[in-house]
Amino acid sequence: MSMQRISERFSHAARQFHQEMSGVAELARTKGPRSAAERLAEAMAWRLSPARRSFVRRLEHERALAREFDERFGVDTSSESSLTEVGVPADKAHDGNGIYRGIWADIFHEALRGTGLSLEDLTFVDYGAGKGKAMLLASAYPFRRIVGVEFAPGLCEVAQRNLAVFRSPTQRCFSLDVVAGDALEWEPPAEPLLCFFFNPFSDEVMARVIARISESCQRIPRDIYLLYVNIRNTDEQARVFERSSELTLLRRDRHALLAKVTPRVVHDRRP
Ligand SMILES: C[S@@+](CC[C@H](N)C(=O)[O-])C[C@H]1O[C@@H](n2cnc3c(N)ncnc32)[C@H](O)[C@@H]1O
Repeated sequence: MSMQRISERFSHAARQFHQEMSGVAELARTKGPRSAAERLAEAMAWRLSPARRSFVRRLEHERALAREFDERFGVDTSSESSLTEVGVPADKAHDGNGIYRGIWADIFHEALRGTGLSLEDLTFVDYGAGKGKAMLLASAYPFRRIVGVEFAPGLCEVAQRNLAVFRSPTQRCFSLDVVAGDALEWEPPAEPLLCFFFNPFSDEVMARVIARISESCQRIPRDIYLLYVNIRNTDEQARVFERSSELTLLRRDRHALLAKVTPRVVHDRRP
């Protein structure tokens, strides 16, 4: 391994450690020492777990593939960054899981094909679009259109440039648009949707975003599916999905959860 790669790895590990510790400090400040201690214990357990070694090996491989994708299409999606570096205030960055990382192509395609949905009538919505990697990959499928929402100004600008230059022989959807905004305030489009989440938020924010989407579905009834992807495993968010009375879980596997929004029936209590 070259000296440059060793030094890149070292600085990445140092940055990650620094991010983890700032997350713990931020939790101690906002939610108290108990939550901070829990987060620290989780981080340490993960660092010591055997699963982490194979994850780190795969991470290296996927990073090389992501760089190839960028070179091939003349885009910039592969470099990772902490959210505070791209203009997000520290407390918001913490709720947004702290980091931008583009989705891995193989996991994305596996998750999307696994939905078994007919995509022609659906608009793909990327909640937390980052630099637009998932949107670019989604354009190989026959979606009606593709929309992304991203709250980091620095990432949204990069995504806009990427969408403008991207051309692929396998592209089937040509209507791609990314907007700057917070998922907690953004109004989902009033059409049938496949809402995509590549692990963008804390459980708390995810629950609020789900409630917002359900409320929109209640007002404007239509098919809305949620596809959540996690490159480690989906256990944590599965609990959020299962707790939500407005969702029906259709599929659960290691890397993906698929659910359908099923608005509550409002009973008319008049005699
Ligand atoms: C793991 S990255 C995923 C990027 C992209 N979806 C992909 O799959 O390549 C998660 C993204 O969610 C964004 N994010 C986190 N919280 C957000 C929020 N409340 N509103 C909008 N974007 C958010 C982050 O800035 C980050 O770019």
